[in-house]
Amino acid sequence: MSRTDLPLTPDYDAWPIDVELDAVSFTPRLVTLRWRDGRVSRYHGIWLRENAADDTTVNPATRERILDLSTLPAWPEIAGAEIDDAGALCVDFIPEDRRLRFHPGWLRAHDYDNAQDPEAPLVAISTWQGGPDAGPDTLDAAGLLDTAPGGEAEEAILAPALESVLGKGLVRLRQLPTEPGSLDAIARRIGPVRPTNFGELFDVKAKPDPDSNAYTAIALPPHVDLPTREYHPGLQMLHCLENSVEGGQAVMLDGFAVAEALRDRHPEAWATLTRVRWCYANTAKTTDYVWYEPMIRLDARGELLEVRIADFLRGPLQTAFEDVEPAYEALMTLQRLLRDPAFAIRFTYAPGDLVIFDNRRLLHARDAFEGSSGHRWLQGCYMERDEIRSRYRMIQRARRRRRLPLEA
Ligand SMILES: [Fe+2]
Repeated sequence: MSRTDLPLTPDYDAWPIDVELDAVSFTPRLVTLRWRDGRVSRYHGIWLRENAADDTTVNPATRERILDLSTLPAWPEIAGAEIDDAGALCVDFIPEDRRLRFHPGWLRAHDYDNAQDPEAPLVAISTWQGGPDAGPDTLDAAGLLDTAPGGEAEEAILAPALESVLGKGLVRLRQLPTEPGSLDAIARRIGPVRPTNFGELFDVKAKPDPDSNAYTAIALPPHVDLPTREYHPGLQMLHCLENSVEGGQAVMLDGFAVAEALRDRHPEAWATLTRVRWCYANTAKTTDYVWYEPMIRLDARGELLEVRIADFLRGPLQTAFEDVEPAYEALMTLQRLLRDPAFAIRFTYAPGDLVIFDNRRLLHARDAFEGSSGHRWLQGCYMERDEIRSRYRMIQRARRRRRLPLEA
């Protein structure tokens, strides 16, 4: 079998052929493949027709689809199916009278019948507890900005970092530069930052006329940032440039672990906080962001999607009369859990540290610090979960490409 004779796929990915096709059978609407390892895969004719990679189906320049299925003369039926000399599946479609070829590695990877859950997270979610001996996953990232973008040296630093963020919601990188603004170049190794009304990069330090409690020296309770937005940022990065103050320890909690504890120990409070929509509002002088959402949200699969916890950003509760007291009761139950030191990890920022965390999952807090005792300067930025997932998939793609020559 020669890889060079295989057809294109409707994407730019690499699809190693781990198992070859053994046999094919078909009916007018269905192709059934048997693989050498005994697995059987079934594909509907309409699904195959839509996912062909020829130039009537996708634009070869972009690999995006150009076919509108409803413009076909009739439902695509199958007149023949066979495995050709290159090992590709060939299907003859009527009434277009068109033969289309399919890459076996791509077909195997996209078997919708036998495949494992395609929507499973890229990295398994593992919730975590804190405590006095716990700390964030920590990696030496010295030299990151000297590596070639997209190269293996960059990947060696980013891959484990992204895995920690995807799985645990948190990583700490150390030995990064401390030049003001260098966070921008570091963040762009992962993806574009999300600008907000606080700018692309924001400075976390005590300043006169602050427009957020973050820009004072007071303690901050556990919170997510910007729950006042319909879609609050999926990632936050905090980069320490200077830290010589007394106090100001960082505190982090896994909001999913707290939510799960609430579900186990206080199911009524859980039910209330996943249902009642709270108001999240900023109260700044020059902006007016407001959004309503439950404090704990699940996705369509019933898995934890996000938490919106930030006492100082909650507006007045506007809900059904009979929900008001149960909502506050549930809120206080949650707040008591948040004070349990078993959930919290605590650490002190050192210059050159960068903490990347899932801002829709983790809660961050800080102790008060003594502003006159030295300087504490963090720079921060936001990004979306999509960016870290895309970057991680690109790393996986690069790894698959490196495997290919061995299999051609
Ligand atoms: Fe914050």
